[in-house]
Amino acid sequence: MAIRKIRVDEDPILKKKSRTVDVFDDKLHCLLDDMYETLKKEEGVGLAAVQVGVLKRVVVVDTGDGLLELVNPEVISGEGEQKVAEGCLSLPGRVGVTLRPFTVKIKAQDRDGHWHIYKVEDLKARCFCHEIDHTNGILFSEKLAPGEVLRHRED
Ligand code: NI
Repeated sequence: MAIRKIRVDEDPILKKKSRTVDVFDDKLHCLLDDMYETLKKEEGVGLAAVQVGVLKRVVVVDTGDGLLELVNPEVISGEGEQKVAEGCLSLPGRVGVTLRPFTVKIKAQDRDGHWHIYKVEDLKARCFCHEIDHTNGILFSEKLAPGEVLRHRED
């Protein structure tokens, strides 16, 4: 496994749409393993492949209760709303209050290509939406709640 370099700020790759994964081979497994190691090192809760410079629809999430690997994830439906401050490893030092659904139902494949349905809420719903946005070239700064602005984190 290896730590991969995170793309940040104005790196143009962050605005690009990732491609669907159709080969579930060792190369994909290596990417997932590296992404998880990178996520842990950076103390993040989610990471999309585009953030390490790979335009594939691949996401890892760990909100504190273990690793979830999402390949070709898609939101099926969302309900309710939440307005909470969000950050991103690709926008270091910045934070903003986004508007997200409170619960989401998504479908995604695992590293071997099997489909799963996830119904999640609160932090995990926010995180899934944020990471799926990354696979479509969208940053959380484009999902701010009305009247909110991107701020510098006060450490
Ligand atoms: Ni992010």
